[in-house]
Amino acid sequence: MGPVFTVRPARPDDREPVLAFCRDIWGPGSGDYLEETWEPWLRSDTGRLVVADAGDQPIGVCFVRLVSGWEAYLQGMRVHPDHRRRGVATELARYCLDYAVGQGRHVVRLATAEENLAARRAAEGLGFRWVVTFGVWRAPAESFGAPATFATAQDIPAIFRLFRRSDAPRLFAPGWIWKTLTWDMVEEAVRAGQVLVRPEGFALLHWRPERLWLTWLEGTEGACGGLARSVRSIALKEGHEEAFALLPTDPPIEACLLDAGFTRIHTYLIYEHRLTGEPARDSTGGNRSGGFL
Ligand SMILES: CC(C)(COP(=O)(O)OP(=O)(O)OC[C@H]1O[C@@H](n2cnc3c(N)ncnc32)[C@H](O)[C@@H]1OP(=O)(O)O)[C@@H](O)C(=O)NCCC(=O)NCCS
Repeated sequence: MGPVFTVRPARPDDREPVLAFCRDIWGPGSGDYLEETWEPWLRSDTGRLVVADAGDQPIGVCFVRLVSGWEAYLQGMRVHPDHRRRGVATELARYCLDYAVGQGRHVVRLATAEENLAARRAAEGLGFRWVVTFGVWRAPAESFGAPATFATAQDIPAIFRLFRRSDAPRLFAPGWIWKTLTWDMVEEAVRAGQVLVRPEGFALLHWRPERLWLTWLEGTEGACGGLARSVRSIALKEGHEEAFALLPTDPPIEACLLDAGFTRIHTYLIYEHRLTGEPARDSTGGNRSGGFL
């Protein structure tokens, strides 16, 4: 028997029934970030919020975001607990993949917690392949001497030299949205005051109202250690109790974060689906994970 539901773009009246089954999605009273993202996702002109509709109610939801000219990212996949293992997630994802193709994107990614076997199997069944693992790290905010400085336009040539030492693509996740880090983004981040620099190293920061995130780290071992400690200092200065990092699980990076007082609290697997087999530039096979030169 085929699916007894259809997948369609979400409507404003889907909000309550969708949020009702999302509220306990991670366990009783867990809450869900979809409460905050529903409205922006529904109104988004760089993505599509879709639901699986069982006729009388939505039973699944997913958002596909266009993150660059060639990449898309799947977020917020949720299926009502009473309707699982009936292909709902699979059909939602297929709709999103078709949407991404229709929008000219070549690669779609998703991230899932290492322990989320249901999501991992569903992704693998759809033809997604694992490309890189990221760790979520945290450290108490603390003051250290000689912090790194925020990069200015004068630092751009030195940062460019560090960036250019490898052509391998880099995935990073500002705001938990995985995409390829390009040189243009680094330059823009310098202008926005989001890049820390030390001799032979640089780091990208991402500010959320409640948290400061380290989202990229590149350079020599000594430089990366200093940069990671600086993030803890900046977090303290800005009144946070902790600093956070979301970085690839590359052994030198991990050693550096451990040395700088960070502890890994979660692990996420990043999966990728190639839609057309092109182009080569966004391949993440052997993804460069920042770190040491
Ligand atoms: C993960 C989730 C979206 C899967 O939704 P679903 O509609 O049940 O998935 P599908 O029916 O399309 O399953 C496709 C395949 O995934 C695998 N799968 C799904 N759930 C599984 C589970 N609980 N255990 C093992 N494999 C599972 C199976 O291989 C399944 O195929 P099969 O049923 O023919 O064996 C759903 O369990 C859910 O909403 N979980 C909570 C939220 C969540 O984890 N979201 C993903 C965040 S990345």
